[in-house]
Amino acid sequence: MLSEQKAVVQAHTDELSSRCPVDHKNYPQQKTAKVVEPTDLPLSCDEAGIWHVRNFEEARAILRNPSTKQAGFNADMIAKLPRTIRAPILYQEGKPHHQQRKQTARYFAPKVVSSRYRQLMEKFADQLIVKLQREKRADLSRLGLEQAVRVVSEVVGLTNSILPGMTGRLETFFVEPGTKKSPLHTFLHLLRSQTVMFIFYLLDVQPAIKARKREAKEDVISHLIGQNAKKSEILMECITYAAAGMVTTREFISIAAWHFLEQPALRIRYLSASEEERYAMLSEILRLEPVIGHIYRRTTADLHVESNGSSIVIPEGALIDLHVYGTNADEAIVGEHALELCPARSLQGDAVPSVLMGFGDGHHRCPGSYIAIQETDIVLQRLLALDGLRIEQAPTIHWSDLVSGYELRNFMITLA
Ligand code: HEM
Repeated sequence: MLSEQKAVVQAHTDELSSRCPVDHKNYPQQKTAKVVEPTDLPLSCDEAGIWHVRNFEEARAILRNPSTKQAGFNADMIAKLPRTIRAPILYQEGKPHHQQRKQTARYFAPKVVSSRYRQLMEKFADQLIVKLQREKRADLSRLGLEQAVRVVSEVVGLTNSILPGMTGRLETFFVEPGTKKSPLHTFLHLLRSQTVMFIFYLLDVQPAIKARKREAKEDVISHLIGQNAKKSEILMECITYAAAGMVTTREFISIAAWHFLEQPALRIRYLSASEEERYAMLSEILRLEPVIGHIYRRTTADLHVESNGSSIVIPEGALIDLHVYGTNADEAIVGEHALELCPARSLQGDAVPSVLMGFGDGHHRCPGSYIAIQETDIVLQRLLALDGLRIEQAPTIHWSDLVSGYELRNFMITLA
């Protein structure tokens, strides 16, 4: 970083951290990074031909370039589907993707989210809190999942299940194969996934489709029916939303609660802050602890990227690994102490979102970002306001290959 730029950023950080509720001297900082990303590595290609990007501006330029396509979330498997089957939104590109985003944008706009889903989110959160007050103990990672599943189900239209237990069915579906890679183990895992997917279809998706064929609603399934989507396409889209919206928000609720519960001053400030400030605090947590740790793209033409004053060409067909922990700790943007939580941080650069790459960027940027922040805030406001709430057992951290991110499990909280 240029020294003058560094001085300006430092001055900002010093001035703002005097207003920051976090105790920086004693704070353990970032919790979830599998490896601490080097912040001074330029854009580079490794021996396997994979390009690695850790700088925010370069990552943003790549994600906004139309000559790239999705290469994460098992995109290679989706590419093998027959051409007659329309891929879920996450894997679409070009005009069809643009149209799909435009047509579904109405379910995700902040105004719509606030007016249509706020009450529901509050109702769900209240129910979870009453249960916690009754039982005096809960696994926060499950509580977060319950909330996330119920909210995304409303957006997608998965509200006509024949039997309760959709949360459990989805959780089973997303269990990863583990480290054993023998053919038998892989086969058994595949068999289990297919069976669970079939049950999910019969109990949750099919009844939702039937209900919406009788009477359309304002949700994703109704939209897909309106487009004459096949049942298999609707099923795949539901699974995509489950992974994109439920699995991610579950982790975010846990990691945010973990920071607040360990930092009493931060918790007190959060509880008395305005909505704008609370959202800024949550965004800073997502910047520091991005739930999706890597975003992958494949180039569909030679890509010219400006980096450190030179123009680099990433060839057509190359795989790019965008290291989100790296981009989000880019000191040129966030200043020094990049691996500390500082809600009063001032960002440098043009129209940089406070989460940096926490919700991605470009044409695949997360449409559910406002939903995620709002529902997390609604749960945490209620949870953190409980007197005598404390951590009984900090969560264990695992890493998921599907979302290239962390999984927090067995996060036990108790109420004195
Ligand atoms: C804290 C929670 C969340 C995080 C961290 C998150 C993060 C992300 C990121 C990083 C992407 C971009 C992936 C890429 O470019 O390859 C993405 C895409 C997406 N997210 Fe989220 N997300 C969250 C919550 C949600 C919610 C609540 C929903 C739905 C209600 C949702 C729906 C989607 C969809 C449909 C996409 C694909 C968009 C496209 O490809 O056009 N997400 N999310």
